[in-house]
Amino acid sequence: MEKQQKSGHLVLVMAPFQGHLTPMLQLATILHSKGFSITIVHPELNSLNPSNHPEFTFVPIPDKIKESQLSDEDLADKLKESLVSTVDVAGSVQSLNKNCAAPLKKCLENILHSHHHIAAVIYDTLMFCAQTIVNDLGLPGITLRTSSATTLLLFPVLPQLELMSGIESPELQALQLQRLRALIVQNPTQAMMEVRAAFTNAMKFSSAIIVNSMEFLELEALSKVRQYFRTPIFIVGPLHKLAPAICGSLLTEDDKCISWLNKQAPKSVIYVSLGSIANIDKQELIETAWGLSNSKQPFLWVVRPGMVCGSEWIESLSNGFEENVGERGCIVKWAPQKEVLAHGAVGGFWSHCGWNSTIESICEGVPMLCRPFFGDQLLNTSYICNVWKIGLELQNLERGNIERTIKRLMVDMEGKDIRKRAMDLKKKAALCLMEDGSTSSFNGLIKQITVSET
Ligand code: UDX
Repeated sequence: MEKQQKSGHLVLVMAPFQGHLTPMLQLATILHSKGFSITIVHPELNSLNPSNHPEFTFVPIPDKIKESQLSDEDLADKLKESLVSTVDVAGSVQSLNKNCAAPLKKCLENILHSHHHIAAVIYDTLMFCAQTIVNDLGLPGITLRTSSATTLLLFPVLPQLELMSGIESPELQALQLQRLRALIVQNPTQAMMEVRAAFTNAMKFSSAIIVNSMEFLELEALSKVRQYFRTPIFIVGPLHKLAPAICGSLLTEDDKCISWLNKQAPKSVIYVSLGSIANIDKQELIETAWGLSNSKQPFLWVVRPGMVCGSEWIESLSNGFEENVGERGCIVKWAPQKEVLAHGAVGGFWSHCGWNSTIESICEGVPMLCRPFFGDQLLNTSYICNVWKIGLELQNLERGNIERTIKRLMVDMEGKDIRKRAMDLKKKAALCLMEDGSTSSFNGLIKQITVSET
């Protein structure tokens, strides 16, 4: 099939992690619907099945993750299963950029030969090596940030921002950026510092920054981001609502949980999922299990294979647990999360607060129980609990506290306002979609692409 379309040719460079490749695929779908032909260049790690997306040309590039010194055998295996842990992420991002730079350059040169023209290269912020390459080739580079726009303030910019006035706006005060900075930014590993410096630098050279967010969610932070970065910023989210048919899951979605949800009372179920990267220990698994069981709420719980350190799956839960819970609980290895969150039976989301999970929950009006692990998850938790006030943080992972906090969020009078605010935020998100906030942002982006190529 000839995939050349009238608006021009775009090359998208994907980062091979679940929370990154899905929004990139959604963006590709939207840009394709606007008339662009799309080539997706991606590391071999965590490759998607191209036959599920015949409208795009997929080009794998070697990432040498197996041979890389940063990736010992064990890490390579974990990466292949998409189970990288906190500390591994920055190291693997460095490896990817180091190993993919030369093949990516070659690949872009080949595309230039065959297509004669590339309107722009859109790369995930984590694939920052792309910016140097496009600079060399004289092509416009645009970066896609799959986390909130506020991360752009927190990671690289805050020290400089302190020198600027106005950091004490209400939203930023409630966000407690200084406290977060102490938690997230201080004492970083060498790899983390280098990754942050590299992507910030790349962004400064890019012709535009695309963010999967909505303006109203982070209004004040955004004005600071725009003050700092001279590069045009396009807030184009929520991408999952603009390309709803896209499924980029690397693991197989277990649909049996939907028939289980169909049997549950409205807003009664607590959905538990910690995303694609975080790991927990056996003790946390056991406390979670008994907290869920004792709460008496029905629960749908995603436990990825290998997510529990030292276990294959949930074998450390005793038989007593399953007997106690019976039909009230459903445990799966991977769920169709967007469908789950949109289901009328779901009344709460216990989440690690990755950015995709956060905006997916907001769009369905589901209040959240926050159990952040690292990086932007702490920032998102602060937005959820302190700014939007649509959730509670689980600070103590002991079963009694878990039981009480689930009840506070989902049934007690105490959580009534939280549940109402979550519904109000859903309405705002729907309005933002109806008012075509993202359409005008996409129009601006397309104009920018057209300007950059001329
Ligand atoms: C990672 C980082 O952890 C996060 O902080 C950053 O914001 C993005 O990259 P991840 O752990 O993958 O994110 O979480 P998240 O951003 O929430 O993305 C997970 C995606 O997997 C979501 O789109 C979610 O819908 C999907 N998912 C998750 C499923 O489809 N099924 C599941 O069972 C669990």
